[in-house]
Amino acid sequence: MKNLVIAVDGPAGAGKSTIAKIVAKKLNINYIDTGAMYRAITYKCLKNDIDVDNEEEVKKVAKDTDIDFRDNNIYLDGAIINDEIRTIDVSNNVSNVAKIKEVRYLMVDVQREIGKKSSVILDGRDIGSYVFPNADYKFYLVATPHERGARRHKELTEKGYEVSIEEIINDIIKRDEIDSNREFAPLVKAEDAIEVDTTGKTIEDVVESVLGKINL
Ligand code: DC
Repeated sequence: MKNLVIAVDGPAGAGKSTIAKIVAKKLNINYIDTGAMYRAITYKCLKNDIDVDNEEEVKKVAKDTDIDFRDNNIYLDGAIINDEIRTIDVSNNVSNVAKIKEVRYLMVDVQREIGKKSSVILDGRDIGSYVFPNADYKFYLVATPHERGARRHKELTEKGYEVSIEEIINDIIKRDEIDSNREFAPLVKAEDAIEVDTTGKTIEDVVESVLGKINL
């Protein structure tokens, strides 16, 4: 049987990873958080004092990096970095890394290889529009900036960060702007993607409406 590929795209905080993880479990397929890959490169740059605006240096880092997903963990050069890539510092720098074309080529190669080998649901920004234009199903999740900010704020305060919700909303809007306006493979809704507005909806509601569109 052909591998199933499901694309879940949308702006930061729309609920992509929460929904994709649950759908993966229900369908018993792999889940790949493609944003985590760009975060991993960003984390490695920051850790090694590499300026994320220095494209040449960032490209070198990306070429020289091994990223892997196993058992719901992300590995950077062999070490698990699930928590390290979720800091505010990484979030505020990742869009500048993700806009570098050569970095994207490298990450997209890995994503396509995974899609060749197994059935998978991937969440990101360009999965339906660029990485897998022939994906079996494409979803584009959206929510109001206030709701997206409130979700991220909850996540961060639970982890012990002290940040204001306004600050988080501003960071999210800034990130969306860079992601949507970059030259290569920007954040965009694929023409054939199904838009799901998650504002005011429970996780169960959204999972149900996504699963309801998938016929296996
Ligand atoms: O989904 P996230 O917040 O973890 O994504 C982190 C950043 O990576 C986000 O600012 C945009 C970028 N990204 C991307 O450009 N393409 C993807 N497929 C996934 C994420």
